[in-house]
Amino acid sequence: MTQPDDFAGHNIYLETERLILRPFKDTDFDIAVPFYNDPDFLQAMEDEPPDEPITRDYLKSAGEYMRKDGFLFAIVEKASGRTIGEVCLQWMNLERGKIEGEKIMRLPIGIWDKSLWGKGYAKEIVWCLVAHAFEKLGIDRFCPMDVHADNARSKALWQSLGFTVSREVDDRKTLDFEMTRAEYEKLVQRDA
Ligand SMILES: CC(C)(COP(=O)(O)OP(=O)(O)OC[C@H]1O[C@@H](n2cnc3c(N)ncnc32)[C@H](O)[C@@H]1OP(=O)(O)O)[C@@H](O)C(=O)NCCC(=O)NCCS
Repeated sequence: MTQPDDFAGHNIYLETERLILRPFKDTDFDIAVPFYNDPDFLQAMEDEPPDEPITRDYLKSAGEYMRKDGFLFAIVEKASGRTIGEVCLQWMNLERGKIEGEKIMRLPIGIWDKSLWGKGYAKEIVWCLVAHAFEKLGIDRFCPMDVHADNARSKALWQSLGFTVSREVDDRKTLDFEMTRAEYEKLVQRDA
């Protein structure tokens, strides 16, 4: 059943060792606003950050864009019960990432609270959603897109999970990554 302040429009709940992924709620935008007004976080998330302060309405329209093509989740830390970020398991919506006859997904992710970076949380979340996409949604290819070449944390995240660079765009300022189904299955077998 959907919640009264449901925003995401899906009903998928997933769990990792330390985190819960639940459908994004309308009230989650209020929690996100102060974190988006941190210049480090904003720079990492937005290609062209606006000059004005980030508002709930701004985030909500970005959220509407994400939810129409995918599954928008809030990330909840089990230990504290706090909502600490957002992640969207999203069908490929960039022309350059589409391949005729293939089901492809991408994954914008942000852990809002900088003090929680570097704890392995993103790896936990990403692998959970990669497994969900390949195993439950039957995708052919998983493609994180639009990674800023100078975003060392984001690059390390994708590389450490076994993704490889598929494309350099915008004069090498932006990287697209990928993992095929065959590569995913090889990693699963290796770790079995
Ligand atoms: C990018 C982001 C999601 C990573 O989340 P995280 O929870 O800090 O990542 P993890 O702790 O799971 O670390 C992932 C990998 O990055 C490495 N890493 C962590 N901090 C790093 C740093 N400062 N420089 C380089 N690598 C780093 C980790 O060691 C780990 O690799 P390893 O397992 O091989 O050691 C998070 O920093 C974030 O939300 N940043 C702002 C928004 C953003 O950049 N989103 C991505 C847009 S494409």
